[in-house]
Amino acid sequence: MSDVQGWGKVREHRHVEHKVDQREQEALSGKKKIKKEMMIASSIATVLLLSVSLFALPIIIVADSDQDQTAPARSKTYVLVHGPGSGSWNWYKIKYMLQQAGFTVYTPDLTSHGIMDNRTADTVFTLVDYAQPLLNCVASAPEKVILVAHNTAGTPCTLAMETYPEKIEKAVFLSAVMPISGTVINDYLKAPFQQLVDENAMHQIFAQGTFYETTSIQMNATAMREYYFGQSSLEDYIMASSLLCATPYRCFDDPVYLTPERYGSIDRFYIKTGQDKIVPPVFQDIIINKNPPKQVFVLKNSDHASFFSETDLLFTLLKNIPLL
Ligand SMILES: *[C@@H]1O[C@H](CO)[C@@H](O)[C@H](O)[C@H]1NC(C)=O
Ligand SMILES: *[C@@H]1O[C@H](CO)[C@@H](O)[C@H](O)[C@H]1NC(C)=O
Repeated sequence: MSDVQGWGKVREHRHVEHKVDQREQEALSGKKKIKKEMMIASSIATVLLLSVSLFALPIIIVADSDQDQTAPARSKTYVLVHGPGSGSWNWYKIKYMLQQAGFTVYTPDLTSHGIMDNRTADTVFTLVDYAQPLLNCVASAPEKVILVAHNTAGTPCTLAMETYPEKIEKAVFLSAVMPISGTVINDYLKAPFQQLVDENAMHQIFAQGTFYETTSIQMNATAMREYYFGQSSLEDYIMASSLLCATPYRCFDDPVYLTPERYGSIDRFYIKTGQDKIVPPVFQDIIINKNPPKQVFVLKNSDHASFFSETDLLFTLLKNIPLL
């Protein structure tokens, strides 16, 4: 079903190509440095990405989702990092597409996530412990990587940027927290997550007893059909509902400390998800305004799981990040 919708969208957008080119020219005549390759809208599957630059009017980027001659150098390496309750399985489609396009892709499971780790979420106390598999992945990558963070992974990825700035070329935040120095995940997500708890869509686990703090949070897989995977295919939701796990919660109150020389030296991009009911757009705007990135993109029809609901657009966007 999502394929059919995707093709409909592609067809619907093809007839506005020349208008897009014109707006693209206007944007280029301004300060934006979008590579010429991005303007070429020649082949069958042309898709549109709405880009909102910080200081200019919204512009449209036309990106070619088919194989093309003007694609970036194929040696790039991506590290895709999952959000709460998830794991590397989130990325199976995007990983496949990036690999087919010639890129190297790593998808580490954060501590206690995925299906291989024997740690439970209730045993993870600190941000460093939570982020360790990602830190190891970045440290051992043979070349600079492009980091992609989903939701709560924004903070582990930010820690990786501060720890290994020489190993990270760019960072992309997909409906993610994008903390400033001294802040914690809960500074950004406590309100939307509390709302999910109030609506029985997420449960708090008190492994040390209810007298003590929440140790982990667990999504209600039934409710997640609507909240997390509202626009995604039923197949992907069924897989996700059998894999969703608990998320360590105490590390959500562990701050990250950043410096302009290290963290600040890396270009950041934000991808907003327009139909997101886990981190709703209004919260994404707060995150963006507190720590403005180089550029903001919007996947208008995406639920929280863009890797399932807007796979083609997300792939096209990620594929073109090296050009920006
Ligand atoms: C968990 O896995 C680690 C590393 O694979 C291993 O060293 C450890 O013994 C395992 N712990 C348990 C309780 O199975
Ligand atoms: C999980 O969500 C479903 C659907 O929203 C709801 O009917 C059910 O009561 C929830 N389960 C719990 C344990 O809160």
